Amino acid sequence: MEKQNIDWANIGFGYMPTGERFVANYKDGKWDEGAMTTDATVTMSECAGVLQYAQTCFEGLKAYTTQDGKIVVFRPDLNAARMQDSCKRLEMPVLPENMFVDAVCKVVKANADYVPPYGSGATLYLRPYMFGIGPVIGVKPSTEYQFRLFATPVGPYFKGGAKPITIKVSDFDRAAPHGTGHIKAGLNYAMSLHAIVTAHEEGFAENMYLDAATRTKVEETGGANFIFVTKDGKVVTPKSNSILPSITRRSLMYVAKEYLGLEVEEREVYFDEVKDFAECGLCGTAAVISPVGKINDHGKEICFPSGMEEMGPVTKKLYETLTGIQMGRIEAPKGWIKVI
Ligand code: PLP
Ligand code: COI
Repeated sequence: MEKQNIDWANIGFGYMPTGERFVANYKDGKWDEGAMTTDATVTMSECAGVLQYAQTCFEGLKAYTTQDGKIVVFRPDLNAARMQDSCKRLEMPVLPENMFVDAVCKVVKANADYVPPYGSGATLYLRPYMFGIGPVIGVKPSTEYQFRLFATPVGPYFKGGAKPITIKVSDFDRAAPHGTGHIKAGLNYAMSLHAIVTAHEEGFAENMYLDAATRTKVEETGGANFIFVTKDGKVVTPKSNSILPSITRRSLMYVAKEYLGLEVEEREVYFDEVKDFAECGLCGTAAVISPVGKINDHGKEICFPSGMEEMGPVTKKLYETLTGIQMGRIEAPKGWIKVI
């Protein structure tokens, strides 16, 4: 398929409608088989559950062109499983894993002309999501749902790509203990909008959220988990019941240990310790690994030794190994890569 005429190297992280998307509907207690459509719009009841009580969740994954010209997706089974967890917590019906992965394959195949070429720096971002489409006025779950999955080509999530960013410690909380921080509910992101707009107005790229109960422990940012590197080269990532279990972070911890022979720790990370780390990065599907150069804590700055010019050495190795696996330059662990 001939590629779209897009300036791949210069696109940002934005929405661009592509050719076809997948739609399935849940009604009378079951999913229909779903179908591809060119219709990029949704028509629904004015009283739909998603519109009234924000009953919606989503996922994010990417398709890549590998060095040898194949199109692949990264660990879609984990996105399917996490979406099931989100659905259960939000009293939504789960979508079977095989239906989710089939939809991923169909959408990527149908939009192969939008999968950025190898080496372009861009990727095809896939956005699966589900929402209550049936009317509800009393506070209760909808009885009807729609699952959709569209694709959009994207560049770097943070302007400047691999340049270190500056973030701030937020005065707002992202998630409550025993709340919904561990699932990918749209409501978590609605909660974070005021905080991110505030951070941007103050000149910061993102927020570091601390745990809501004690404000002493590092949680995550609005759209990515943290990884830190200690001065003696250990990779540390925060453990918390109220952060999203990032697939990128889980993959990086495996890569750090099994590919790079580094010591890894998933544990509670106190904010007081952060000043002693050598490197800091944000990891996620959209963020990949974005290095953090500076953290502003109410005017007090934590400056990582890796500086504001480039990624720290361990972050860079992690980045190169993970993207090497995704782009087919490095052999992937079994089951990580699905060829379309
Ligand atoms: N944390 C939040 C709040 C996110 O929105 C995301 C993005 O999906 C992540 C972490 C990273 O998760 P993953 O690596 O699975 O994309
Ligand atoms: C992702 O990394 O896929 C995300 O969902 C993060 C953000 C765009 C919300």
